[in-house]
Amino acid sequence: MNATASSADSAPAAANGPDLGALQVVVIGAGNMGGPVARTMLDAGVRPDRLRIANTSPESSRRAAEALGAAAAESRGDALAEADVVVLGVKPYQILDLAAELREQIPADAVVISLAAGITLAQLEEALPEGRAVVRAMPNTPISVGEGAVGLMRGSAVTDEQHRLVHALFSRAGVAVDITEEQVHAFIGAAGSLSAFVFAIIEAMTDEAVRLGLKRDLASTLIQQTVRGAATMLSENGIHPAVAKNGVSSPGGTTVEGLAALERAGMRAGVAAAMSAAAQKSREMTQD
Ligand SMILES: NC(=O)c1ccc[n+]([C@@H]2O[C@H](COP(=O)([O-])OP(=O)(O)OC[C@H]3O[C@@H](n4cnc5c(N)ncnc54)[C@H](OP(=O)(O)O)[C@@H]3O)[C@@H](O)[C@H]2O)c1
Repeated sequence: MNATASSADSAPAAANGPDLGALQVVVIGAGNMGGPVARTMLDAGVRPDRLRIANTSPESSRRAAEALGAAAAESRGDALAEADVVVLGVKPYQILDLAAELREQIPADAVVISLAAGITLAQLEEALPEGRAVVRAMPNTPISVGEGAVGLMRGSAVTDEQHRLVHALFSRAGVAVDITEEQVHAFIGAAGSLSAFVFAIIEAMTDEAVRLGLKRDLASTLIQQTVRGAATMLSENGIHPAVAKNGVSSPGGTTVEGLAALERAGMRAGVAAAMSAAAQKSREMTQD
């Protein structure tokens, strides 16, 4: 996997990058994932009045648009007629029917970005008229604070210019990388679903800190700061995690005692099981 977006495949919304302020974006399905995707596109430079939300009802569209500081689509058809980019943020079981329903409404030169897990580019391209530019994006929710990861899969009709445009739209997400559809399963284990595993681990650590006698607010602050700091140390100093870990393990000390307990409790096996279960589920969803 291309671990980091190279300067060649990422297109920051810089002066010579695509003009995101002129773009018309329609997000169909701004829910748990479509919302953060809309948020990051606004952060990247899409104008709030040109990013229109179309959910299941006008009330839902207005509610989501208000929460994001974007606009609600008065009419889905009218919004789509002007769209340069259409984000499909509905559930995987809905997306092919939705694409078939919208096939005549999506402009021929618009880029369609699907967020759906398990639905392939080939399936999406088949549901839309021939030659449509389709991109699959696999984001995680930390993109809403600019510290997430997005895996981008490029459809067969996507031009280099459209590819740069999609990278520019995700330029404020954290890390945006090009991946293949085969790599998406590993990507889900290592990023898409991983944020939920980290949330669960942070919750468990916080509960234990409370059991050990700290107030919950203090425990949360200490643990979140330590997790953030540990990740920042690795990325900024470029050191291997084992070296960083050994650096705090004095002979016979508290840390090495805790690390031994962690290993005895099956930390590595548990983490590997969670990541490979998510990847396996993604494979099964794709075969349906
Ligand atoms: N959640 C994640 O962490 C995550 C990560 C990566 C990818 N994804 C992908 O993101 C997609 C959405 O998942 P989610 O968790 O965000 O689901 P969600 O919270 O249920 O959001 C789905 C959205 O789709 C809207 N919707 C449903 N049918 C529609 C229709 N016919 N026309 C217009 N809007 C419609 C819903 O509108 P209402 O609000 O009006 O009901 C809702 O806003 C899925 O395909 C999933 O595979 C999710």
